[in-house]
Amino acid sequence: MDIIESPAAMHTWRRGRSGTVGLVPTMGYLHEGHLALARRSLAENDETVVSIFVNPTQFGPDEDLERYPRDEERDLRLLRELGVRAVYLPTPNAIYPPGFETYVEPGDTAAPLEGSARPGHFRGVLTVVLKLFNAVQPRRAYFGRKDAQQLRVIRRMTADLDLDIEIVPCPIVRESDGLAMSSRNVYLSQEERAAATVLGKALHEAADAFAAGERDAGALQKQIRARIEAEPLAHIEYVSVADDLSLDEIDGQIESRALASLAVRFGSTRLIDNVELG
Ligand code: PAF
Repeated sequence: MDIIESPAAMHTWRRGRSGTVGLVPTMGYLHEGHLALARRSLAENDETVVSIFVNPTQFGPDEDLERYPRDEERDLRLLRELGVRAVYLPTPNAIYPPGFETYVEPGDTAAPLEGSARPGHFRGVLTVVLKLFNAVQPRRAYFGRKDAQQLRVIRRMTADLDLDIEIVPCPIVRESDGLAMSSRNVYLSQEERAAATVLGKALHEAADAFAAGERDAGALQKQIRARIEAEPLAHIEYVSVADDLSLDEIDGQIESRALASLAVRFGSTRLIDNVELG
């Protein structure tokens, strides 16, 4: 397996490949959700590059950059077992060398929800994703639907900046009890881990209500909130029912598609999850 550690080395690797390349951007500490993205890329492309980079510019000053879980050895073993032949593993200095000063400025899609709760987050995400795209020059790039707003913001950037890359959204992978897989789940205590299953349940019930004909966005939002508030260890940051594309909050009836999404804290662990309605 090739381990490529800098943009220059990545360019050299890329010049030697004429077939299609799929990119799976990750921050490491891989779980089944990441592996599903890699499997899909392996099936759809001649080559697959998985990037592992804990991107400092997408973490706020009070967030978990320092304690973000890392296990490079295990990640590389899992990827090797899967048949991935190239891993892009740059150092922070290789991505942000001294003097670095150019960032991608996200627009309105990045303003609500995660953008409002985590100022500067999507500026960091878009900047690093564009840098990964430029280094790897993939035909396709694979992103999980769990980061629903991230997916939409990246699609917007890809369209706005005329990038010739297909953004491939992949389903949320859940544990058997419905908790969405996330590298951050490892922070949860046993009690918090059990309590966190309320998120999947609340969203699932909202999807059932939608399927049964409920179109009142406020009623769906209230239903999700009430379910989560009944769990004493859960502290809601936001629950949203928004337009699926613009992410503008829906006031009244859902006309076509909507995204129900939430961010909830369990102790010091902040989890996000969502379900697409329609
Ligand atoms: O979703 C993630 O893991 C990160 O936000 C990404 C896309 C790898 C950029 O750092």
